Amino acid sequence: MPTQIRPITPDDHEQLKVLLTEAFGTSDGDWAGLAAQGQSWWGAFVDGHLAATINHREYTSWFRGVEVPTAGITGVSIAAEYRGRQLLRPLMEELTSHARSRDERIATLFATATGIYRGFGFSRILQVGSVELPVASLARVRGTLDLRRAGDDDAEVLHGLYEQWARRHDGPLTRRGPAHERPDHRFKDLTGTTIVEDAGEPRGYLRWKRGTAGDWADSVIEVPELVALDAEAMRTALTSLASYDSVASRVRLFSPGDVDTVRWLLPSNAWTPLADTEPYMLRVLDPSAFDLLPAPPGVTATLPFLVGDDGWVLHVDEGTMRIESDPAAATGMGRRLEPGALAVSFAGALASSAQREVGLLSGDDRDDTLWDILFTSGRRLATRDSF
Ligand SMILES: CC(C)(COP(=O)(O)OP(=O)(O)OC[C@H]1O[C@@H](n2cnc3c(N)ncnc32)[C@H](O)[C@@H]1OP(=O)(O)O)[C@@H](O)C(=O)NCCC(=O)NCCS
Repeated sequence: MPTQIRPITPDDHEQLKVLLTEAFGTSDGDWAGLAAQGQSWWGAFVDGHLAATINHREYTSWFRGVEVPTAGITGVSIAAEYRGRQLLRPLMEELTSHARSRDERIATLFATATGIYRGFGFSRILQVGSVELPVASLARVRGTLDLRRAGDDDAEVLHGLYEQWARRHDGPLTRRGPAHERPDHRFKDLTGTTIVEDAGEPRGYLRWKRGTAGDWADSVIEVPELVALDAEAMRTALTSLASYDSVASRVRLFSPGDVDTVRWLLPSNAWTPLADTEPYMLRVLDPSAFDLLPAPPGVTATLPFLVGDDGWVLHVDEGTMRIESDPAAATGMGRRLEPGALAVSFAGALASSAQREVGLLSGDDRDDTLWDILFTSGRRLATRDSF
């Protein structure tokens, strides 16, 4: 059967809707989003029929305070009758060459199963998802700052708070650019957004939904986003949620990563992850991605390594990193990284010993400590988006 890989046009949208609905159940019906700016859909057409899809989004992520051009991948779906026929590989190649032509150095996605993407060099870097707490578990929290309801003219205040939080972390999207012009579906039907202020200075915010259940036991206060720049702002946000104890039994929070700092402020151990947690995976599209990252001050190093049959050397000096191809590094028993090791190193998600444990890293271990100083010390992985 002849297979053609090509961009999806508006004429294909009806087939695309059927494919996405069959794969993911109902979407939120926002089919206008198929033609939204900042994204490109490709299809694998078998005998003219849309058999598989992939979607590229133009994103930028924060890593170490630097903005890294990122290919966001969504909408991976293969029609039931065409699974197991290697249709994902040519689609992924098409997307990857599009991303490289845009100078995007990394690609990221939320995986329904990590095994689908490992063979393409993606590695899990963190996990996001909802957690539930009894409202009563927040009763002992005492926050003292002020609260006010956000209005239509607070968009910049909210983005400013988000950005201050995001640039301190590794992984969050900048939420700038055309792909972000469409409202985030998770913030649909909000009851409101509450801003936390300290003497008129915004220090955090909560986006929340009261839900329609009238009964205490069934009522949940959903918080798809809670950003707090300091402990008192977080305590104040939690105190506001605690005040719902007479009418709602549970709070549902979106947790932005494996290490969620709110847990250091909670007075009790209550913390129940729900089944919707999703791994966030990253792939380094080009080793030059490392050139974008600053190096820790005071570290000077020359670190040879191999990926497959290719030799590379990482030069670290005066707060900068530079990777260059080095055929000499491809000989002997050097430090050997699987493509997934590039991903977890770039993100700072796994130290060398853990990379060795999961088969991402092998060979010479003399430079392990230096790599760990460069890539894993002091990193704080998180993301507040889900796509
Ligand atoms: C997931 C999906 C795209 C895979 O396509 P496919 O043609 O069935 O894939 P293949 O059988 O060729 O397998 C490709 C790789 O994915 C892995 N894989 C496929 N389904 C998997 C699953 N459910 N769990 C873990 N790994 C899986 C295979 O092991 C294989 O890995 P390898 O290349 O390292 O050997 C397809 O089954 C699908 O559309 N599923 C429903 C929608 C979905 O989950 N999309 C992914 C959104 S993130």
